[in-house]
Amino acid sequence: MGEVIDLSALGLDPLAPDMARVEEELRASVDDDDRFLGEVAVHLVAAGGKRLRPALGLCAAYAAIGPRAASSAAVTGGVACELVHLGSLYHDDVIDEAETRRGVPSVNARWSNIVAILAGDYLLARASSLAASLGADVAALLATTISDLCRGQVLELQHLFDAGRSGEAYAAAIEGKTAALFATSCRIGGMVSEVDEPTLDALTRFGHHLGMCFQVVDDVLDLTSTDETLGKPAGQDLHEGIYTLPVIYALGDSDELRSMLGAPLDGERLDRARAIIVANGAVDAALAVARDHATKANEALAGAAGLDPAVTAGLCRLVDGLVTRDH
Ligand code: IPE
Ligand code: IPE
Ligand code: MG
Ligand code: MG
Repeated sequence: MGEVIDLSALGLDPLAPDMARVEEELRASVDDDDRFLGEVAVHLVAAGGKRLRPALGLCAAYAAIGPRAASSAAVTGGVACELVHLGSLYHDDVIDEAETRRGVPSVNARWSNIVAILAGDYLLARASSLAASLGADVAALLATTISDLCRGQVLELQHLFDAGRSGEAYAAAIEGKTAALFATSCRIGGMVSEVDEPTLDALTRFGHHLGMCFQVVDDVLDLTSTDETLGKPAGQDLHEGIYTLPVIYALGDSDELRSMLGAPLDGERLDRARAIIVANGAVDAALAVARDHATKANEALAGAAGLDPAVTAGLCRLVDGLVTRDH
């Protein structure tokens, strides 16, 4: 996978060793007595991924209590969030009929849809057990987040191939399917560090806007990047009838694009649709929305008294880097 988000740019010494602890606990958490289930469950863990959600949870904890080795609760909270993310990817690749993920065959492609659904459920259950070990509040929050995720995915399904999909319907879907888990990852990092309510809300708002920014950029990359760079199929959203923010904007001034949408696009027609969207300023307009969320994420941190300024400065650099990543 060529896509890189450089966490070392955060300048946080404990992050690399703490992420190694996350890795170890993540592997242990999917190691089942049943060899087949263990093999399926570890498939995407072993394939890599950016591990953004646990990294954000750890960073929220560093922001709260200073950049020193994270508590075991912060590590476990990060692992639980990554497991929810993984479970949602197993299911998402079934929904989207995606054949690759993290540069390797998706679980549905390598085994079957049924195996991917069951193993995805298994990962969500493992996440719930870990969350329960952190207390009822964390367990309840993670459960709510899983329902937000489902709601976001269902909202997206309700607008498949809908050329009239509004910017509001798009925002509501990505808030559920992506931003909710980013917000929760940060909030759990704060909860296990016992910060006060206003600080917890600031960390949650930060995660929410970062997640919104991240998904808008991911949707732009689907149109502008390549399979090799993404480690997953580019152009998949248009093919599957998911009309993301740049598409919604481009539809406003392209009758040709409007005439192409409403049915699956492949080959030259898919390339033509992508070219129209990239050429008509819609990508820039979508990136402006991403930038606006990045600004709001950074404002949330700036408005919170009591967070470590060196940590929050690093997080602001990470957010700014997300908007300009690889397109
Ligand atoms: C992919 O998330 C799903 C989206 C929210 C766009 P990531 O881009 O964080 O995926 P990995 O974990 O690095 O594979
Ligand atoms: C990813 O959504 C799944 C969730 C966020 C739950 P997408 O379908 O938009 O992401 P990719 O492009 O497959 O990673
Ligand atoms: Mg997908
Ligand atoms: Mg999807």
